Amino acid sequence: MINDKSRVKDVYATPIGRDVIDKILLQLDRSNRMITNPLVSNLRISTVKKLTRDHLDDAFWESFYWLLNLEKDRPSEGNPNPSWPWWKEAVFYQIYPRSFADSNGDGIGDINGIRSRLDYLQSLGVDALWLSPIYDSPNDDNGYDIRDYKAIMDEMGTMEDFDLLLEEVHDRGMRLIMDLVVNHTSDEHAWFQAALADPESPYRSYYFFRPGADGLPNNWVSFFSGPAWRYYPDQDVYTLHLFSEKQPDLNWDHEPVRQDIAEMVRWWLDKGVDGFRLDVINYISKREGLPDGDDTIRDLITYGGIENYYYGPNLNKYLRDLRREAFDLYDAFSVGETPGIGLEMGRLLSGEDRKELDLVFNFDQLEPPGKWRYDDYLYDLNYLKKYYIKYHTRLSDNDWMSVFWENHDNPRMISKINPDPRHRRRLAKMMMAWLLTMKGTPFVYQGQELGEVNQKFSSIDDVRDVEAINYFAELSVELGEASAWATILAGSRDHVRVPMNWDETSGNGFSTVEAWLPRPEQDQGWSVAAQEEDSNSVLADFRRLMALRKQYTALRRGSISFVKEKSHNYFAYFRQWQDEKILVEFNLSDLSHLRSQASPGDKLLYTDMKLAEKEGAGRRRLLPYEAAIYLCE
Ligand code: NOJ
Repeated sequence: MINDKSRVKDVYATPIGRDVIDKILLQLDRSNRMITNPLVSNLRISTVKKLTRDHLDDAFWESFYWLLNLEKDRPSEGNPNPSWPWWKEAVFYQIYPRSFADSNGDGIGDINGIRSRLDYLQSLGVDALWLSPIYDSPNDDNGYDIRDYKAIMDEMGTMEDFDLLLEEVHDRGMRLIMDLVVNHTSDEHAWFQAALADPESPYRSYYFFRPGADGLPNNWVSFFSGPAWRYYPDQDVYTLHLFSEKQPDLNWDHEPVRQDIAEMVRWWLDKGVDGFRLDVINYISKREGLPDGDDTIRDLITYGGIENYYYGPNLNKYLRDLRREAFDLYDAFSVGETPGIGLEMGRLLSGEDRKELDLVFNFDQLEPPGKWRYDDYLYDLNYLKKYYIKYHTRLSDNDWMSVFWENHDNPRMISKINPDPRHRRRLAKMMMAWLLTMKGTPFVYQGQELGEVNQKFSSIDDVRDVEAINYFAELSVELGEASAWATILAGSRDHVRVPMNWDETSGNGFSTVEAWLPRPEQDQGWSVAAQEEDSNSVLADFRRLMALRKQYTALRRGSISFVKEKSHNYFAYFRQWQDEKILVEFNLSDLSHLRSQASPGDKLLYTDMKLAEKEGAGRRRLLPYEAAIYLCE
């Protein structure tokens, strides 16, 4: 039990305490030696409280203790016999169906569009596809607001189309996972409609309804701007929605909700899908009574109330139950989207012995200290390097991590690192080499294999995303429209949601009519068709790298050890499996860098082809953003 008498080291020894302190240290850009040195680590919390009383009030400490004392377990520090399920060695490819391929000329991507591109997907060598939601939905949040879990959205096609897709994916030796969005439903879901219409409905307890007379039930805020409560004047009630007001949160503490969800998951697994990506799954268990969020925490991380649900009291139990009652019956795969959690919480959610999730998506790598998605800044790759070193130093054989930095919610990484078009190709290749040789399971987002960059949207009228539209309205009042637009342009999720760049025709081969979200520029020369013709394209190198990954077990299963960790702008590691040892090195900057690790006998397996031809393998310097992979003698 952590209380005033505990010492800093006791707190740091708990998984949640460690994650919270590490996050604060990260924001301050300090190493954990600040905490582990005896002077600090032996301090009692009561003393820390006194020292920080101008900044942290009693409410903060109450929330902190509550959170810390929730978790009694510790991540397991080893596993003598880790298993090798398929997903540990797989490469996943995420499809945003709305923007992948339009087969029926309505400007919206659909299931038959995906089917028409299966040869392409197979040719990439990827092992599994993850589909963002294709369920029936009014599309307030592009399908992340589900009206009917067992029906297909009209715009995407029919259930027959889906069944064919699944069969064809399997015929090609690939797997298919779906998006499972069960923190909330659409407000148009039958459960919610019944609950709203009748206070006596059994579905009333499926959601969080609160009487209107009392005013806002708490001070939580929505991720999509404004309070997390929607008021229904006719019924005089509020309902909780952490996302848009059309996405009411489900009450997982009510057992029938959990049973219905497990039944629905089994229904899809019965069809043969291979698993799920579980949307914001760490938010499903809320603190009893939904108490106010702490003001200090809100000031630090904007999202008021989050400490009450981002690692809630029953999260682990609900996940274990769902796994036992659905996933495990089919040997299905699960990856949880878990924003805000830290390394240790991730280990507790996905450690092999825990039987909760197989993998988590942790997001600390996406923004360096002090930044968030809507900031306009240049991302320093030395931070990404530090992130992976930290993780792999800490993870045990009981853990396995996902590797990714792009998805449908984040701008393109290349644009954040270095938007200079002269570096685009090499940088894209280097990032791909990193993604496909880092220890863990890589997730590629559609277009990443082409070296896609952010879009040149010109005004808010070009944007479709509910999050950006709401945020623009909020910011315009505070800052004026020009500054508000600059912010939206930096962080909008629509950068990655524009149609796939298939060819050089005016609709980019995506559709014959204007797309639901048009690409402002054609991006000549970067389409799939153009890159297929160019043996030095990003796409060509993606395939070369995938082939290496298939060929060398060390790249999939091997241990990882880092070299020259302190060398700025240089990142190198060995991957080793039995006698097979591979060296990977990167120049993280746009200036050349001394090649420091390879020995003369090593065999060069990969570098940018043009570089190898021109300069030979024996060069002493790595060129800007060069990646090189060697088989060690
Ligand atoms: C996370 C999803 O990735 C995002 O696209 C969505 O808006 C929210 N969850 C709400 O479902």
